[in-house]
Amino acid sequence: MRKPDLSIEFCGVRFPNPFVLAAAPPTDSAEMIARGFDAGWGGAVVKTLGLEHVEVNLVSPMMAGLAYEDKNLIGLENIDLISNRHLPEVLQEVSELKKRYQEQVLIVSMMAGTEDEWKEITRRVQEAGADMIECSFSCPHGMPERGMGSAVGQDAALTYERAKWVVEAASVPVLIKLTPNVTDIRPIAQKVKEAGAAGITCINTLKGLLGFDLDTFAPIPDVGGKSTAGGYSGPAIKPIALRFVSDVAKDVGIPVAGVGGVVTWRDAAEFLLAGAGIVQVCTAVMRYGYDIVEELIEGLGYYLEEKGLGTPADLVGRGLPNVVSHEALSRDYKVVASIDGDLCVGCGACIVACRDGGHQAIEFPEDAAGTGNERIPGVDEEKCIGCGFCRTVCPVTGCILMKERESEA
Ligand SMILES: Cc1cc2nc3c(=O)[nH]c(=O)nc-3n(C[C@H](O)[C@H](O)[C@H](O)COP(=O)(O)O)c2cc1C
Repeated sequence: MRKPDLSIEFCGVRFPNPFVLAAAPPTDSAEMIARGFDAGWGGAVVKTLGLEHVEVNLVSPMMAGLAYEDKNLIGLENIDLISNRHLPEVLQEVSELKKRYQEQVLIVSMMAGTEDEWKEITRRVQEAGADMIECSFSCPHGMPERGMGSAVGQDAALTYERAKWVVEAASVPVLIKLTPNVTDIRPIAQKVKEAGAAGITCINTLKGLLGFDLDTFAPIPDVGGKSTAGGYSGPAIKPIALRFVSDVAKDVGIPVAGVGGVVTWRDAAEFLLAGAGIVQVCTAVMRYGYDIVEELIEGLGYYLEEKGLGTPADLVGRGLPNVVSHEALSRDYKVVASIDGDLCVGCGACIVACRDGGHQAIEFPEDAAGTGNERIPGVDEEKCIGCGFCRTVCPVTGCILMKERESEA
């Protein structure tokens, strides 16, 4: 396998590549993290740890996937909690891992309650040798009932206070992991910056209720007939994550670790363009295994080469100047749908979409009988407003293009 140099500096720490295992089941033990590092991950965030007295009482099952058409996991719902492992045991593993893997970056995720507790866990995590600390202010289920998790990240004042406690006690860079379960993340991210944290990790899972069993009426995942709203992750949340990452990178100006829905190198490149300095991955690793990092490394390496860019840092935030308000978008730029008859498979999906979801601008031709073009739709350019929905439903890539209209002036 080609090994391009993808190293990048983030919050003053050098990562061998920008791909990092997010705090989640794939990082719940040293044995697992070691397998991730051996596969090529540039760093790992150890699954969130609490002090010994915090009771972590797991339920089962704690995960279920959302299926759509032929995909059985477009999104994953979990009602997992922080790690249920004993803190001293995990910290011992962190020390040993750090001795074994010096190049890879080991970040430890943690959660606590009072000032003394936050400071104590910070000290102990640092003593174990963590390169960075990530504070979870963002778990949407379980912990908020105890005044932790997203109960903190949804409140700017609490976020500031707790972030400051950790920053005061820390000698390594501190990341604050924020929740997307807020209307606007920017005022909260601003408080993280004012508290002196090195960066922000976003996003944690979106709070959602996956569904109901139609026979038993039990919500899913069904814990003995009952369930609760949990954290939704995976490919379906990528657009939401990109929005939060770009909001923070553009308007708050603090380093961002991007996470949410990354599966391929293309997804990762988009997070870099949105302003993320490193990219974390959870659900895709759980589903496909640690080895997906090979595709991430190879794909990003080829892409940078093709674009004539030196390192991943050259991509960070490159897309941000193009993210503008709706009002700032051009009203002079107009497109019209154009169907490539050679590529068209005659399925008619664009006709249905335009008829019932658009402006009735696409039809099979009425005068094509006997020509062989009976199922190649035509576009009425007078009626087409260039909405782009036909292209979205077309099963053939490149068959429907949105072409710029000639200027009417
Ligand atoms: C089963 C499961 C457990 C998780 N546990 C934690 C955790 O302990 N701490 C944390 O900060 N995030 C946790 N997360 C959230 C992930 O780190 C990540 O932010 C989220 O899943 C979005 O990324 P993804 O779409 O790549 O999965 C968990 C996610 C899942 C699916």
